[in-house]
Amino acid sequence: MAKKVLVATVKPFASQAINKITEICKNGGYELEILEKYESKDELLAAVKTAEALIVRSDKITADVIAEAPQLKVIVRGGAGYDNIDLEAAGEKGIVVMNTPGQNSNAVAELAFGMMVYIARGQFNGKPGRELKGKKLGIHAYGHVGKNVARIAKGFDMEVWAYDPYVDDADIKADGVKPVQEVKKMYENCDYISLNLPSIPATQKSINYELMKDLPQNATIVNTARKEIVCEDSMIKLLTEREDLKYVSDIAPVKKDEMLEKFGDRVFFTPKKMGAQTLEANVNAGVAAINQIIGYFEKGDTTFQVNKK
Ligand code: 3PG
Repeated sequence: MAKKVLVATVKPFASQAINKITEICKNGGYELEILEKYESKDELLAAVKTAEALIVRSDKITADVIAEAPQLKVIVRGGAGYDNIDLEAAGEKGIVVMNTPGQNSNAVAELAFGMMVYIARGQFNGKPGRELKGKKLGIHAYGHVGKNVARIAKGFDMEVWAYDPYVDDADIKADGVKPVQEVKKMYENCDYISLNLPSIPATQKSINYELMKDLPQNATIVNTARKEIVCEDSMIKLLTEREDLKYVSDIAPVKKDEMLEKFGDRVFFTPKKMGAQTLEANVNAGVAAINQIIGYFEKGDTTFQVNKK
């Protein structure tokens, strides 16, 4: 019997991505079920019952979902961050979890610049704004997105710094970017800080008052990562004390209403997470996800497994 692949996405992939996934499944002899824009968890729980492989985006794959999926062998997060998947629960059932690193990073990096220009130009309010040219940009975490942010920043003639204790200085320098040893130093010097960290226990609320309080005049924090990494109380305290600072985020913070009310056009939040929401990123991540599933079933390929012991 053909193995069943389930694509379960509240926020659907572009139809072109789904067409390609469908074609690859058909050619490979896999059955495909698409569950898009589902409104209740029950729909997901029903669909996973017979799935052997699962492709998701930010959909929450918690222990109770995994418990309802006795056939499940592999979950692929079509994207980078896998903080939405219970790795422990998957591991206990011997389920391999993978992501598709790099496949949507250009889309996220481009959005960071869209938001930077938007906020630098006063949210297009018709009044004189500022340019990015000549400003210092500090990239906090130099992974796939960070590297793309650096590449685009050079086109804007920005001076680019980066902090990432897990990346060799030589690799950062090779991109024409200045590696920084102390993260605080980057926050003290850069006009724009691009947050590109994953959300893990060590990074959650790590962008705090102490780190941000000495930002240069008129600085902006740009968050295309996760809302959880920013300490919202710190952000509110800081923006209250420093009327020159700005915060833009791809996905609204929990305290969105309070921030919008207090800080007006110094803050901007996308209504839905938009970073990876492009046709190109959807096709890249969707196709990579289905190919990784087939590679796992047919060759035991676990290259992008994120829950290796
Ligand atoms: C990611 O982690 O890849 C991005 O945040 C994109 O998430 P999305 O697929 O839910 O848009």
